[in-house]
Amino acid sequence: MTVLELSDVEYSYRRNAALKGVTLEVNAGEVVAITGVSGCGKSTLLHCAAGILTPDAGTVRVAGQDLAALPEADRARLRRTQVGIVLQFGQLVPDLPLIDNVALPLLLDGHERGAAHETAMHWLGQVGVADEADAVPAELSGGQTQRAAVARALVTGPAVVLADEPTGSLDSRAGQELLEVLLRASRHRGAALVVVTHDNLVAASADREIRLRDGVIQHEVAL
Ligand SMILES: Nc1ncnc2c1ncn2[C@@H]1O[C@H](COP(=O)(O)OP(=O)(O)O)[C@@H](O)[C@H]1O
Ligand SMILES: [Mg+2]
Repeated sequence: MTVLELSDVEYSYRRNAALKGVTLEVNAGEVVAITGVSGCGKSTLLHCAAGILTPDAGTVRVAGQDLAALPEADRARLRRTQVGIVLQFGQLVPDLPLIDNVALPLLLDGHERGAAHETAMHWLGQVGVADEADAVPAELSGGQTQRAAVARALVTGPAVVLADEPTGSLDSRAGQELLEVLLRASRHRGAALVVVTHDNLVAASADREIRLRDGVIQHEVAL
């Protein structure tokens, strides 16, 4: 089953064409690595897939739904429930304990607080930081906060997890551990994982590598 589909997606920042017609399908449970040199359009691609950026042309479908065709409230709900995002620096809310950071997407989706915390604890356990549930991000290492960011991305049970250089701020050992956590948690959930990376180790763990060059897919390799 296809859970993410980009067709002929184009995106420009003013005159700077960052994506020049990208077509890509990702199936449930699949792990896809997006690679390519800095500036080739990896983050732009991920942001279009996440609905953070709206393409100038082409379509993005998440869980079968064309993002551009949905009314704003439905699009927001689809993004909130079906897309999990992990960025380079966790982007956790600084003043909130991990458990509240991870529960936040559920609370925003109207879940009851006790149930949201229970689900959040499950995912903190999955990523190995359950003991840190009451700590705020500043009290933790980069690896620990990135693990919590993975838990937050998965807590709603999304069809697709999008990660933009999730190990980029970590040393190689913490990065490798985080990657294993991200892969394991995505598989545990059955979510597709699209991970932007410079790291060969990440690419080697994927089912497929898509190499971008100057806003187009240069080649695609099944691994
Ligand atoms: N906010 C922005 N404003 C203008 N140009 C941008 C912006 N973000 C990215 N770009 C440009 O778009 C192109 C693709 O960038 P990006 O998607 O960030 O690439 P990557 O993630 O592969 O490094 C680059 O030429 C970059 O300079
Ligand atoms: Mg980038």
